[in-house]
Amino acid sequence: MQNFAHQLSQILDQKYILTNGQDMAPYSTDWRKRFSGKALAIVLPSSTAEVSKVVQLCAEHHIAIVPQGGHTGFCGGATPDNSGKQIVLNLKRMNQILAVDIANQTITVQAGCILQNIQEAAAERGFLFPLSLGAEGSCMIGGNLATNAGGTNVLRYGNARDLCLGLEVVTAKGEIWNGLKGLRKDNTGYDLRDLFVGSEGTLGIITSAVMKLYPLPISQWTTLVATESIAHTIALLNLFQKRASSLLTGFEMMTHESLALNEKHFPQFKNPLNGEPPFTILVELSDHESEAHVRQLLETILEEAFTAGIIADAVIANSLAQANTFWHMREHITLAQAEEGANLKHDITIPLSSLDEFICETDGLMRNKFPGVRIINFGHLGDGNLHYNIAPPEGVDQKTFNTNNEKAIHELIYGQVERFHGSISAEHGVGQLKLADLRSHKGDVAHDLMKALKRALDPQNILNPNKVVSI
Ligand code: FAD
Ligand code: MLT
Ligand code: ZN
Repeated sequence: MQNFAHQLSQILDQKYILTNGQDMAPYSTDWRKRFSGKALAIVLPSSTAEVSKVVQLCAEHHIAIVPQGGHTGFCGGATPDNSGKQIVLNLKRMNQILAVDIANQTITVQAGCILQNIQEAAAERGFLFPLSLGAEGSCMIGGNLATNAGGTNVLRYGNARDLCLGLEVVTAKGEIWNGLKGLRKDNTGYDLRDLFVGSEGTLGIITSAVMKLYPLPISQWTTLVATESIAHTIALLNLFQKRASSLLTGFEMMTHESLALNEKHFPQFKNPLNGEPPFTILVELSDHESEAHVRQLLETILEEAFTAGIIADAVIANSLAQANTFWHMREHITLAQAEEGANLKHDITIPLSSLDEFICETDGLMRNKFPGVRIINFGHLGDGNLHYNIAPPEGVDQKTFNTNNEKAIHELIYGQVERFHGSISAEHGVGQLKLADLRSHKGDVAHDLMKALKRALDPQNILNPNKVVSI
């Protein structure tokens, strides 16, 4: 091990190799404080060449590597295990915007760029980089690609995978694959880029990426709408899709119980809609024509929805500040849950056609089997993506409740997900949280193919072992 430490210090300056417990602590526990581990060292490379040399050295010494970006992931993918034998390779020093290609409408960035910095760099040049999520001030594009992150613009622009045109990746042997061409068409056999996107650091280390840019919209209008049921909410979504088509850029759902929890911890976010509606929907339209055009379209659609009886109330944001408040209200539910204490997260997708039945049935089963639980259900409804989270009943000891019921609650929800042909991970990934659930969810054939890929690309099993699949 001493030999490894010495050779590592030949690759990077010693100050970028952290081995002291206190220095390593921030890299060893995830955002939710749900997963923590003990690393051999935290390594902070500044270039692809350094990443490559570190991986070669680890391969030589059979030392496992946990790639890490902003460490905001929800599935424990970026947290080392407790062995004290894994290194965490944090990419934060690789934070350069390498190029903006105006004609090609692309931006080339290093993996450690913070998402918000990419959005701002794009906006300075008149472009939109549409990937957007609550953690955008601290998550990094390498982590976004490794988890195939979703967020609030997927409905219109797709997830991280859809926005990616090329990658540079360091393989398990330490070779550098340069796939940074930025082509929109390239049918030359297996799609390596798509293999690495969503692989959560288990197949290679993403060091740079070419991402798509879009023209900045001229005008955006945000509104909160009250609905009485999921069936009405889906009817509203379909109406917006029909009338606004690609101008519809956001369609987020928050239940009354989610917003009540929000208001408990953040009283500034009071729902402006009348009568505590069961469902509050945040709808955003973005337009390239004119402010008046989109405002009129929004009003026309809302009027039609009122007339059809599918919405009960609506408030259109009358300023950018109010629109931001609506979005902050939506994004703060995660923070309110963190303030409230341990909650059981389920990031699921269900086909929209079954969503109403899924929620009615699953809510009923949940309340019947676990009386008093709080169902904190919100999410990207336009994508069929629910964050169907369960908080213990008020007043009970949270830790004891979760220890005693976590397994049964997961089983109930995941059983329902299978029954309705959904997915147990819509956008957060698998990491260590869902490792044990993956085989039964994917089926033996798909799971064996995943294991075969892992063995082929990382035969020594040094890239993020025991995350996503164990071999
Ligand atoms: P990390 O947590 O550091 O890593 C995540 C995984 O990627 C790990 O397996 C890690 O090993 C791997 N990895 C990281 N960097 C690399 C790399 N360069 N090469 C290879 N592998 C790598 N997620 C959503 O999808 N949608 C949301 O709306 C959303 N909202 C959030 C809101 C909040 C408040 C928070 C805290 C999180 C939210 N997330 C959301 C989850 C999280 O932000 C995303 O999963 C994000 O993409 C993780 O990026 P990161 O840089 O923090 O990655
Ligand atoms: C969100 O949609 O706000 C995020 O995915 C965070 C969460 O699931 O709590
Ligand atoms: Zn989400």
